[in-house]
Amino acid sequence: MKVAAVPAVAAPAASAPAPGARPSRVATHSHIKGLGLSPSGDALDQSAGFVGQRLAREACGVVVDLIKSRKFSGRALLLVGAPGTGKTALALAVAQELGAKVPFCPMVGSEVYSAEVKKTEVLAEAFRRAIGLRIKETKEVYEGELTELTPTEAENPLSSYGKTVSNVVIGLKTVKGTKQLRLDPSIYEAILKEKIVVGDVIYIEANTGAVKRVGRSDAYASSFDLESETYVPLPKGEVHKRKELVQDVTLGDLDNANARPQGGQDIMSIMSQLVKSQRTEVTEKLRREVNRVVKSYVDQGVAEVVPGVVFIDEVHMLDIECFTYLNSLLESPMAPTVILATNRGTSLVKGSIDIVSPHGIPNDLLDRCMIVKTEPYSRDEVSKVVQLRAGIEGLSLGEGVVAKLAGEGETASLRYVLQLLTPASIIASLQGRTEITLEDIGEMNDLFLDARTSAALMSASTPKP
Ligand SMILES: Nc1ncnc2c1ncn2[C@@H]1O[C@H](COP(=O)(O)OP(=O)(O)OP(=O)(O)O)[C@@H](O)[C@H]1O
Ligand SMILES: [Mg+2]
Repeated sequence: MKVAAVPAVAAPAASAPAPGARPSRVATHSHIKGLGLSPSGDALDQSAGFVGQRLAREACGVVVDLIKSRKFSGRALLLVGAPGTGKTALALAVAQELGAKVPFCPMVGSEVYSAEVKKTEVLAEAFRRAIGLRIKETKEVYEGELTELTPTEAENPLSSYGKTVSNVVIGLKTVKGTKQLRLDPSIYEAILKEKIVVGDVIYIEANTGAVKRVGRSDAYASSFDLESETYVPLPKGEVHKRKELVQDVTLGDLDNANARPQGGQDIMSIMSQLVKSQRTEVTEKLRREVNRVVKSYVDQGVAEVVPGVVFIDEVHMLDIECFTYLNSLLESPMAPTVILATNRGTSLVKGSIDIVSPHGIPNDLLDRCMIVKTEPYSRDEVSKVVQLRAGIEGLSLGEGVVAKLAGEGETASLRYVLQLLTPASIIASLQGRTEITLEDIGEMNDLFLDARTSAALMSASTPKP
């Protein structure tokens, strides 16, 4: 068993992480946690990170119910609305409402025009990446909250400099008790790589020594609602036990892995795969083969299919050939939920000579769509979203800043003001302040333009023919 063994050559020492806070990455939609609906399906004014946009959220809630009761197949959800009105956020929230670990595969319409791969192939691939497979395995593990992480250093036998870690002692706590383990230095490395600190709930697979972080122990939970951290309870039972592990992969992952069976898990082999990208290798035949194996797993009860969500933003960028293919994908038996978004009105369908239709989408596809409209935000709503984002980005806003940004959000767009926040905080910190003041916002407006102002400036300065 690898967990207990200590090899002759020890891994190099790394500095121990400071216990306590771990910086979390904040992405554009980090504050969105779901649709924020009440059990009866009404949109709560501010909930799950969503502010306003009530009708659209309620409509998406209905769609979630349809999907869950398997009455949405063959159809698609189409979100229409001006830029920055939360279409992408809604699509993400739908995926979140369908359950944790439901694959969400976003793409932009224009992605299909790649020189390398056929247009329809790009769509097919996105659909495969949006179908998850949950594989269950029972494994021997050590699980608990990390209470101690002490690397033991020894003189490096191979060189006269420096020290290496010869083993690491970790303490794991469960509801039942605590256990101290002396482990291989490679596990110490894995712990550092996963950025695990004392207070995290982890498990170590006994056979492979693989370390997984489950989440932060809820004893450390703060009182803030909006955080990207997941808190988990102290594990029950013994530290050393057999546990049912669940692994989530997508059909796309399986296709790729089987197209390049030589690939490994270490970073070098992943890098080499990036360079020699042989995307065209995944053939229809290979997909059928993967499907067959998957089906046998499902029949044996080892795996479960988790249909996810494909989100195609700027769907008006697709051409008639893609739309036809999309129709056929929608009909296929193992299709994920399809969400489309556009901010175009009536326009010419790309690739056609004279088909003009709403949103540049041919009628036969439009027919299958449930269309939901997003509304522009009021000043009050913008100010709530700004405060939410400031909270999640850990920024403090000075007097009048929220009101100023809200005003700008109303005239420019919500996205524009949200994007001002981080640079404004940099300007503030350059001047040695932690708080963003009105002057910082003023300076931002001198440095950057919103889209509308920029367009107006350009047309004013272009000489008329
Ligand atoms: N109702 C809302 N509540 C909270 N945050 C929101 C809301 N609507 C949008 N946001 C946030 O505002 C930003 C812009 O929204 P989003 O990217 O979803 O707009 P979009 O409609 O997809 O725009 P585009 O047409 O340009 O793609 C995102 O950070 C999003 O999370
Ligand atoms: Mg978008």
